[in-house]
Amino acid sequence: MPTAEELDVEAIRADFPVLDRRVGDSDLVYLDNAATTQTPEPVIDAITEYYREYNANVHRGLHQLSQEASIAYEEAHDTVAEFIGADGREEVVFTANTTMAENLVAYAWGLNNLEPGDEVVLTQMEHHASLVTWQQIAERTGATVRYIRVDDAGRLDMDHAREIVGPDTAMASIVHVSNVLGTINPVAELADMVHEQDGLIFVDGAQAVPNRPVDVAAIDADFYAFSGHKMAGPTGIGVLYGKERLLESMEPFLYGGEMIEKVTYEDSRWNELPWKFEAGTPPIAQAVALDRAIEYLESIGMDRIAAHENSIAQYAIEQLHAMEGVTVYGPPAGAERGGLVAFSLDTVHAHDIASIVNDHGVAIRAGDHCTQPLHDTLGIAATARASFYVYNRREEVDALIEALDAAREIFA
Ligand SMILES: Cc1ncc(COP(=O)(O)O)c(C=O)c1O
Repeated sequence: MPTAEELDVEAIRADFPVLDRRVGDSDLVYLDNAATTQTPEPVIDAITEYYREYNANVHRGLHQLSQEASIAYEEAHDTVAEFIGADGREEVVFTANTTMAENLVAYAWGLNNLEPGDEVVLTQMEHHASLVTWQQIAERTGATVRYIRVDDAGRLDMDHAREIVGPDTAMASIVHVSNVLGTINPVAELADMVHEQDGLIFVDGAQAVPNRPVDVAAIDADFYAFSGHKMAGPTGIGVLYGKERLLESMEPFLYGGEMIEKVTYEDSRWNELPWKFEAGTPPIAQAVALDRAIEYLESIGMDRIAAHENSIAQYAIEQLHAMEGVTVYGPPAGAERGGLVAFSLDTVHAHDIASIVNDHGVAIRAGDHCTQPLHDTLGIAATARASFYVYNRREEVDALIEALDAAREIFA
């Protein structure tokens, strides 16, 4: 893996106009990237170019603008397919976000295929997008939800996984990189385990695709999802990857225009993939911008981005451990992890931490990060989370630590 030093962070920062912002009397230190990343100039340009030059609805127009928009929109599917190792655009469905991708599969596959006796396997570290969705679909279908335990080091207990994945496992929905613990889960190994039992696996890649190379074929994921707004792209677009034969076999999730091939007063026939799952006017500007975001990330190199984030996260862990009364969650220092660190201070509530560091221009997140059951397991209602991206530098971790010192003093 190339070293993080090879990344020219200052040159990258110059691409992100918002990073020049001031917050009160301080320079902005943006450490809330696991929630949403900032947007580089080329992506902003892609959006404005679209609205200035070829804004039109796709697929159904014969005029020039519609043709240009259609080509750009369709080609964005090809870019995504290549980026994640899918076979082609048939396997790439644009959704609103990861949550909608999860719901699409839960409704379109889950409702029609799960039955009493089936088991849906989740992990204790699932985001609510996965956990709540499958909980609801299991309740409706009579299936049972089981959870793979997280051990004290913040990793999945793979012995427990081997215990609970069995002949009744119909679907497993597993987070690739935890948005709280930073743990990188062995999703390929879990996919093998589930496939041996003839089950399917959905991988939630919301915190993986933005910052490391991901190859859905190498993982052998049946479904894989992520969001544009966490990878230097726009809000309003997410991706559902699905193996072609599975998507073919599924009923549509939403009905309406664009997703049909033929409609009569009596009945309708569905469009081909991926359009069968993209009812209504799709996120066209967002798709064009996501295409550009991928081009931007690839020009830096996904392996270098992963190394950079891991290195900043390790530095943050070291600095946090050097403070008194800090608990850091997730795998121990030194273990490779996603670029985020959740922590708590013994004397200051997470919400107070976030609010006080904001007075120093530092943006972090506090709360349960859409993982209430995981927080119950950790024995704490809320944690603070600093999360990093390609443009963050070590000095920003130092700024966070200084701001945390100030918070501790206030509550001393
Ligand atoms: C692991 C994980 N899964 C799913 C989501 C949901 O993403 P979105 O809100 O874009 O649907 C998030 C967002 O924070 C996440 O971190």
